[in-house]
Amino acid sequence: MDISTQYLGLDLKNPLVPSASPMMKSLDSVRKLEDAGAAAIIMHSLFEEEISHEHEEVMLLMEQQELSHGEGSHFIPTYEDYANGLDAYLEQIQRLKSTLEIPVIASLNGISLDGWIDNGRKLEEAGADALELNVFFIATDSNQSGAEVEDRYTSLLRELRENVSIPICMKLSSHFSSIPHLVKQLEINGAAGVSLFNCFYQPDISTDTLQVIPTPPSSSETNMLLRMRWIAILYSQVGLSLGVTGGVKNGNDALKFLLAGADVVQLCTILFEKGPEYLAQILTELKVKMEQLGFDSISELKGSISHNAVKDRQAFERAQYFRHLTVRGR
Ligand SMILES: Cc1cc2nc3c(=O)[nH]c(=O)nc-3n(C[C@H](O)[C@H](O)[C@H](O)COP(=O)(O)O)c2cc1C
Repeated sequence: MDISTQYLGLDLKNPLVPSASPMMKSLDSVRKLEDAGAAAIIMHSLFEEEISHEHEEVMLLMEQQELSHGEGSHFIPTYEDYANGLDAYLEQIQRLKSTLEIPVIASLNGISLDGWIDNGRKLEEAGADALELNVFFIATDSNQSGAEVEDRYTSLLRELRENVSIPICMKLSSHFSSIPHLVKQLEINGAAGVSLFNCFYQPDISTDTLQVIPTPPSSSETNMLLRMRWIAILYSQVGLSLGVTGGVKNGNDALKFLLAGADVVQLCTILFEKGPEYLAQILTELKVKMEQLGFDSISELKGSISHNAVKDRQAFERAQYFRHLTVRGR
């Protein structure tokens, strides 16, 4: 059985890829992921805030040193001499590259252009095989149009594309008025793929403290179905790679996404719950299910139940309870 696939121009031995999380900070865990069959890994994100805060703190420290040391300030290390979040991240890329045989995808998380071009270049130089950009911007200004918000994404991508030669994937949220249009624009502007969808903390209100409290995202089946619809709809309309992240717990879930048209299926929460070794179980389940259904390869099944491939295209379009009830009532 041929379970190889292609993602962001990379040849992968199978479609299972652990998604961005702090699990990739541990060499022991990434070795276990590779041994269990992971086809590539996506590193935890380097956050824009992480770097800018550190930058501010280090600059403050250096200013204080300059004030107290006066003319002796040439002995003081420059900002570049400090090991910061970026340095640690670059070292981790190098460690991962020398430890693993599978591709290593670095991840940047931020919303502004400042610094990302430079950082993107550094990640490439450190050996990253591709770059995932997790751009999450909450539009809170009623004067800002949807087109302007989308333009942020395409501009950031375009700038980075001009300065970095490794493939770039955009990890998107589902909060856009036309996902196919945005994804097409990203493809035109040089994205090698998209990963659907990123999850966020949502604000909740505590009635004990009367404070706004951040609530972590949940990995649920509902999340999975949202992603399945959009992968199926995008499959025949765009040529870039389609990755899916959110809710996958077993081989059966992975198979559904591949049938809808995904090139890779990313795993996160399940690996925290069951351990990195569990990826092997999911891979086995996928192969068993493929065998039962008579599929010899991923390429044979990929997209075979996508929006364009099914007889009833409306199955992916239907959004109203009323239709559902009427159809069932007939
Ligand atoms: C503990 C934890 C840390 C995460 N860190 C990152 C991160 O650094 N960057 C990122 O893009 N996504 C991050 N994610 C999101 C995951 O990569 C993934 O997209 C999301 O959890 C949905 O997949 P799942 O349902 O399989 O968990 C994190 C998720 C978890 C649970």
